[in-house]
Amino acid sequence: MTATISPSAFQIAKPNRVLPTFARVTSAQLASIPAKKGLPIVGVLPEAARDPYAFARRMYEEHGPIHRFYACGNWNLQLVGPEANEFVLFDREGNFSAYGGWKPVFGRHFDGGLLLRDGADHKWHRKLVATAFKQEQLQHYLGVFCTNISRLCSIVAGRTINTYEFAQKLTFTNGYSAFLGLDSSKAERTDLLAFRYLMRSAAAIVPFPFPGNAQWRADWAKRHVRRLLGTVINAEPHEDRTDLAAALVRLKMSGGLSEEEIVAHLTFTIAASFDALSSATISTLYYLARDPVWQNRVRHELLSNIASSATIDLAELQRCEQSEWAVKEALRLNAAAPVLWRRALRDTAFGGHSIPTGTVVGVNPMLTHLLPQIWDEPARYDPGRFEPIKVRARHRFAFVPFGGGAHGCLGANFASLQVRALLRNLLQSHELRLVSERPPQWYHWPNCRPVGPLPIELCPRA
Ligand code: HEM
Repeated sequence: MTATISPSAFQIAKPNRVLPTFARVTSAQLASIPAKKGLPIVGVLPEAARDPYAFARRMYEEHGPIHRFYACGNWNLQLVGPEANEFVLFDREGNFSAYGGWKPVFGRHFDGGLLLRDGADHKWHRKLVATAFKQEQLQHYLGVFCTNISRLCSIVAGRTINTYEFAQKLTFTNGYSAFLGLDSSKAERTDLLAFRYLMRSAAAIVPFPFPGNAQWRADWAKRHVRRLLGTVINAEPHEDRTDLAAALVRLKMSGGLSEEEIVAHLTFTIAASFDALSSATISTLYYLARDPVWQNRVRHELLSNIASSATIDLAELQRCEQSEWAVKEALRLNAAAPVLWRRALRDTAFGGHSIPTGTVVGVNPMLTHLLPQIWDEPARYDPGRFEPIKVRARHRFAFVPFGGGAHGCLGANFASLQVRALLRNLLQSHELRLVSERPPQWYHWPNCRPVGPLPIELCPRA
């Protein structure tokens, strides 16, 4: 069965996009908050870029859960813990702008994507993109995933995989066919590289292009993606097409969206689905390879509830809760999106400190997920933490790999289903084994990824 996205749901008049402007906040305005200034001009940027997680951890240990540092020409406030997550992400009073927070990171290449919109404008566009994630769409995507997964898994069967490249290829080709309606076997390596360069440019220290640097590659990538999407957008969106691109193009034809807005949504959605999801896939495979007990539990659950990896029924997969916990626990230990940024639209306060208008504010899922006051033995991989009774006992913003509130991740279900469909296929015929006992090194920005290939052996099961 295929589902269709119905754009006729959008009868609310399209709001104007008004971009907020922000005054720079001085150190004196944040005087009550412990601070690290770092080097002249660049501030802590070189130190933070070397190892973003180690930097965040040091700041937390030395200065506590509310602190600030100077980087990128601004004082950046960091708030750590569930209450802070709720205050900033749920944002009951509308204090924060996601556009203001994310613009320095994603503004150059992802402007117009949902995370770079606020208020009524964001709400209107989000409603539009959200149609791509309804239950009937997910069933359709699951069919796409099964086809791609079985093709890729048959290539690597019985081998040692470069987990990073494998996961990137899988999540990219799945997004490519699910959102663009294209045949995934036709996805070129340059298409994948273009999205990788766009994401990597968010971590670039030098904010302008010169030959060979990250921004230069990202500028090439942007032109490449624009050409690719131009072809998709200008193709006839046949009535039976169910992908996000076709739905957006139908809206363009009825005057609801411009071509640039479609490009922005498709670029951001594919990039968001590709890199964060590849991170989640890698972490899940790694932790299961390291933990044969949980690997067996997940295998047993998936094989006993789902008859075949070739066609998976959505409801059946959604019932497999232990595999879902396994993915969540991997995301707890390795938050794919380690820090989430906002900028204050008005004067507010948190934890006894004033936050003046214009302050750049970050919350840190990565650190929150490892706080010993919330998580028993935080470094241990234990998917059992996600049993409903244990979840109910925790603060609802203690676990926020997908953010929360108005900008909460639209692709959370899409992501979980994709990783579990992969596990259903791989674990049926393989044991996952680590090639090296040495813990891998992770780089936590803009999404968490291993430094290097992180090889995992796919040993055929007897
Ligand atoms: C495990 C994988 C993923 C993780 C950990 C993740 C994480 C997140 C987080 C933390 C946010 C909120 C950012 C903020 O509030 O500042 C977000 C937003 C978003 N994510 Fe994901 N994401 C994942 C996969 C996906 C996938 C597969 C898609 C698309 C299919 C997707 C699409 C989006 C979109 C469109 C937004 C912006 C929502 C808005 O601004 O309204 N994500 N994601």
